[in-house]
Amino acid sequence: MEIIDRAVNKNPDIDLDPRTLGFGKYFTANMFTSRWTPDQGWQNSCIEPYAPFSMDPASLVLHYGQEVFEGLKAFRHEDGSIHLFRPEYNCERLNRSARRLCMPELNVQANLEAMKRLVELEQDWVPGGEGALYLRPNMIATEAVLGVRSSTEYLYYIILSPVGSYFKDGWKPVKIATSQDFVRACKGGMGEAKTAGNYAASLLAQKTASESGCEQVLWLDAQERRYVEEMGGMNVMFVVDGVVCTAPLGGTILSGGTRDSIRILCEDHGVGFEERQLAIDEVLSGVAEGRVTEIFACGTAAVVTPVGMILHKGQQHEVPVGGPESITSTLYRTLCDIQRGRAEDRHNWLVRVV
Ligand code: COI
Repeated sequence: MEIIDRAVNKNPDIDLDPRTLGFGKYFTANMFTSRWTPDQGWQNSCIEPYAPFSMDPASLVLHYGQEVFEGLKAFRHEDGSIHLFRPEYNCERLNRSARRLCMPELNVQANLEAMKRLVELEQDWVPGGEGALYLRPNMIATEAVLGVRSSTEYLYYIILSPVGSYFKDGWKPVKIATSQDFVRACKGGMGEAKTAGNYAASLLAQKTASESGCEQVLWLDAQERRYVEEMGGMNVMFVVDGVVCTAPLGGTILSGGTRDSIRILCEDHGVGFEERQLAIDEVLSGVAEGRVTEIFACGTAAVVTPVGMILHKGQQHEVPVGGPESITSTLYRTLCDIQRGRAEDRHNWLVRVV
């Protein structure tokens, strides 16, 4: 793929200390863009200065939400080299989401090349230590028409954000609340696609959760409101009798890259891993009886974050948070160490950029 270079050279004008960066508040100087039409496919690929877009107010994405996105990270190693973590996983998932939303796919290698070129250009913006450079690829429908149908024009772009921790208190246990009134996704819906509508649908439940002092909503299945599925912006896992359990993919759950990495790390560590339906009642009685010993959130943004409390039907259920030898801590440390080059990358998850 030819990438036109219109980039500006700009050194970071922000403090890249991961402790003060927060999540997704700052953006680097340049972005990647590419446009799609039925005749020419993806064309006019370009790295250009980060700037607002000019869009027709009738653009389909603004009315009917035809959009898909991704989230992945680049890490700085102690020797100064920079690596993307499992970028092909994200490129492939973007294509799966695009198929669900009737949007054009991107060639995985071309997309990877765009990511590498942009991150290489913006290498000075990659924080060290426990920070990372978060990549946010996004595809939107740009045709200006009000009929409900899929667009004939698309814009794909990638922006970059130096980030620290997703949750404001870093690795501190988060509180989560089930939603009784709302659901995230039902079978046949868009739950397994990474698309804006799923996040828009979560906001009201997220607001209610926040008003009760919780950081995230814990979704229950849409049909029976009985089984735990995932959280507002990440997957969730439960350690039941020493086995890490999470909801099976089956149309309603986002197939998280971190979720998949944890599955593999559990195998490496000889820890059982099971994808099965888990009822909220089983979780809560398990917590009370000491059978559910840890709960954690996992996602690109959240990495691995312990859950310290579940609010369900007005009742608070304290969840034990293990020490440094807990499964949650071990998985968190192992993942961070691989990402930052401090542990062997046995599964070839890292793709070197510089
Ligand atoms: C990620 O973990 O990368 C996500 O996309 C979750 C998010 C919506 C912040």
